[in-house]
Amino acid sequence: MNTQTKINRKTILDIKNMKTQGEKIAMLTAYDFGMASILDDSNIDILLVGDSLGNVVLGYDTTLPVTMEDMIHHTRAVVRGSQKALIVADLPFLSYQVSQEAALVNAGRLLKEGNAQAVKLEGGREHAEIVRKMTLSGIPVMAHLGLTPQSVHQLGGYKVQGKKDDAAEKIMKDAVILEEAGAFSVVLECVPEKLAAEITCTLSIPTIGIGAGVSCDGQVLVVNDMLGMNDRMTPKFVKKYAHLSQEIKNAARRYASEVKTGAFPDADHSFK
Ligand code: KIV
Repeated sequence: MNTQTKINRKTILDIKNMKTQGEKIAMLTAYDFGMASILDDSNIDILLVGDSLGNVVLGYDTTLPVTMEDMIHHTRAVVRGSQKALIVADLPFLSYQVSQEAALVNAGRLLKEGNAQAVKLEGGREHAEIVRKMTLSGIPVMAHLGLTPQSVHQLGGYKVQGKKDDAAEKIMKDAVILEEAGAFSVVLECVPEKLAAEITCTLSIPTIGIGAGVSCDGQVLVVNDMLGMNDRMTPKFVKKYAHLSQEIKNAARRYASEVKTGAFPDADHSFK
């Protein structure tokens, strides 16, 4: 396993070419070494060290408490566990909104210390200038429009965005502005599929949807959700490809029972 991103990984050019060639992009979140190595061996093109880390790994109600230190720590683990996928790391809440200088320094830290290849930030045209600056400084940026969880209090909850014409128009315009500023791709979260299809046709960079329909150039899900690793309510757009929480409970209960009855360890699992 490597400790630095190696050049034989997928690059942002490979990801952009996938759109040109009509090949769909499969992206999943990852937060640790073990899961990253399994997903890297499973045809996943992009591993996103999302700030959903806060919800699914650290147990917060929102992504707001996640720190730069949290993101760097987990990004390094994901990089160590993978060799092929492009690694994108989220800039956490208030790491890029306070000043352009701080934004550039923090994005740089995700590459220099976290060993990510690209960063993701949430929001529209208000971040165009910093996206331009990062791109010109050699930091590839994935944009994120629609439902932006870092603004959950401003949005009044986790709701579908861009349902009304003016809201849809704003998201479309933001996407165009961010592409012009240099973003290499854009996540569209919880927007009507028709709007996502129109944005996908308009942009020359790939769109990656989550709750945005099938027309996007790629899809992303939170890995813990798609593996059914928790019993909490999952949004409508999450398809569970496994039910690991039940599997893990069954295994742990069998183990506990065998420990208590003395059935484990048996002769096969002991040294003579
Ligand atoms: O943090 C995250 O996991 C994300 C994805 C949901 C796109 O931003």
